[in-house]
Amino acid sequence: MAKPIVLVTRRLPAAVEARAVRDYDARLNPEDVPRSGADIVRLAEGAAAIVCCPAERLDAATIMALPGTVRVIATFSVGYDHIAIETAAARGIVVCNTPGVLSVATAEIAVLLILAAARRAGEGERLVRSGQWQGWAPTQLIGTEVSGKRLGIFGMGRIGREVARMARAFDMEVHYRDQARLPIELEQGAIFHDSDESFLAQCDVLSLNAPGGEATRHWLNAERIALLPRGAVVVNAARGTLVDDRALIAALQSGQVGFAGLDVYDGEPKVHPGYLGLQNVVLLPHLGSATAETRDAMGFLALDGIDAVLAGRTPPNAIT
Ligand code: DGY
Repeated sequence: MAKPIVLVTRRLPAAVEARAVRDYDARLNPEDVPRSGADIVRLAEGAAAIVCCPAERLDAATIMALPGTVRVIATFSVGYDHIAIETAAARGIVVCNTPGVLSVATAEIAVLLILAAARRAGEGERLVRSGQWQGWAPTQLIGTEVSGKRLGIFGMGRIGREVARMARAFDMEVHYRDQARLPIELEQGAIFHDSDESFLAQCDVLSLNAPGGEATRHWLNAERIALLPRGAVVVNAARGTLVDDRALIAALQSGQVGFAGLDVYDGEPKVHPGYLGLQNVVLLPHLGSATAETRDAMGFLALDGIDAVLAGRTPPNAIT
């Protein structure tokens, strides 16, 4: 019997591609060419499943145009704000994501951004590379210590809780804002806030870890930034859409936000040009889940989802 066709939109880790080729008639992308929605529709001809990535927009029109053979879309990401979920559900297409396996890697990047921003690592690296460094000086590149400070986590899901766990190694007092209070065993001593006002006032460091999408679009705007303690550190390893870039850039210029660290951008890979000239922001290219271990695990979980759907089962990582 012919193997089902699986379209894989981007190059994946070798072990993941090997499993896809072993189990399916896998249409790979060895050149790693970015795919548009129209490309995906065309390449999915006859496919039973698609492995897609967060850099691709599968909007309602794209989902509607997919061939009727497609039964499952497995996104190589935990975030699924790039997929028109309701349209997929209406067409009977299961959508799966990769929760859990990337929480530690993504939290590491959030913590890296906190330290790099607060301790001016980007500026320091640029100084050394420029050949202009004159040697140690008592007042050179003075940052702000994060140990013992208050950390506010917006979005206390799996990744937010990992950030909290890591922050405890720095004796940080953890505060969080979410739709509802967590069960006490998940809170691990973190302090819940039921209003933005009380939450933001506690954030010496603010880490954004909530999902993207319309509900959180530009959550960090000028009004909320004004509620932070002056000189706060802000990091975003979640989705660029959470931040009103103009407001954050103005706050970095005025000193209301002392330092920022960003791994994700609204409209990425475009980055608001206002960030590029600022020294007090550290900019990474969406590295959250980019470890060998995690990317393998994400790929295997995506394939587990496809295996289950094509075998007539509902996978635990199904969103629709
Ligand atoms: C995700 O999984 O949503 C991440 O953004 C990919 O690193």
